[in-house]
Amino acid sequence: MQLLINPVGRPVGDPGSLEALAEVYAYPEQVRDGRPWLRANMVSGLDGAARLDGLSEGLSSSADKRIFGVLRALADVVLVGAETVRAEGYRPARARAEFAAARRAAGQPPAPAIAIVTRSLHLDLTAPLFTEPLVRTVVITTSDSPAERRRAAAEVADVVVAGEGDVDLPAAVRELTGRGWTRQLTEGGPRLLGQVAAAGLLDELCLSLAPLVTVGDAPRIAAGPRLPGAQPMRLASLIEDEGFLFGRYLRAG
Ligand SMILES: NC(=O)c1ccc[n+]([C@@H]2O[C@H](COP(=O)([O-])OP(=O)(O)OC[C@H]3O[C@@H](n4cnc5c(N)ncnc54)[C@H](OP(=O)(O)O)[C@@H]3O)[C@@H](O)[C@H]2O)c1
Repeated sequence: MQLLINPVGRPVGDPGSLEALAEVYAYPEQVRDGRPWLRANMVSGLDGAARLDGLSEGLSSSADKRIFGVLRALADVVLVGAETVRAEGYRPARARAEFAAARRAAGQPPAPAIAIVTRSLHLDLTAPLFTEPLVRTVVITTSDSPAERRRAAAEVADVVVAGEGDVDLPAAVRELTGRGWTRQLTEGGPRLLGQVAAAGLLDELCLSLAPLVTVGDAPRIAAGPRLPGAQPMRLASLIEDEGFLFGRYLRAG
């Protein structure tokens, strides 16, 4: 890995090491004062595809997976849309020995919670995501979601009702922040990320750009109505590995 733009202000040693990546992707200080920071981590092909054969796996690489793991290891909570949970077969976030001391020092449990946004509550409640998480999984849904499924979900997860018809994402983020989870990470998918951006909640985008042209009809990393005004972002760090580019873009201004 090469660190082409270094945000740390001094050499970080081997840029591929977990320590260096944790520094490059450190959350801003504000998270210690109870102010949330919501970062997204997404991967795209060169012509904008956010999936290949239905999954993001085909666009990924070992470096992408390493950064994905570091971003999880830094986070308090991973916010994710239910379709990504279903398509990608989400499992609970795991504890990483390399990050155990840092998480303890920051007052974090060994792994982040997974918080799923869903209207239908079509979730496999017998899956490890619900039966084996280190931190109880959170299900964020609407007041008009199917009541029986909500009751079943509440047996194995913390169910949060935020909004009617649609999950109100600012309310959902306030709920997560209220739990002390200020280091927030969303892993999409595109429909969720589009709404996160539309609600003005996107503080940071960690974008992995895979050196692949796929054409086809895969969505872009953010889907939904065009924003009334484009959100400017500034490039804070850039890593290259085997032709993949890993940019960290922060809300500008
Ligand atoms: N390239 C990448 O980095 C990346 C990242 C993640 C995923 N993906 C790919 O993207 C695809 C899935 O993404 P997607 O955009 O189709 O779906 P998604 O954003 O993961 O999930 C959409 C689902 O989330 C729930 N949802 C979203 N917003 C909601 C709201 N405001 N209120 C209530 N429920 C809400 C709904 O769940 P219910 O249907 O349960 O009501 C909705 O169907 C998969 O193919 C996955 O592999 C790619």
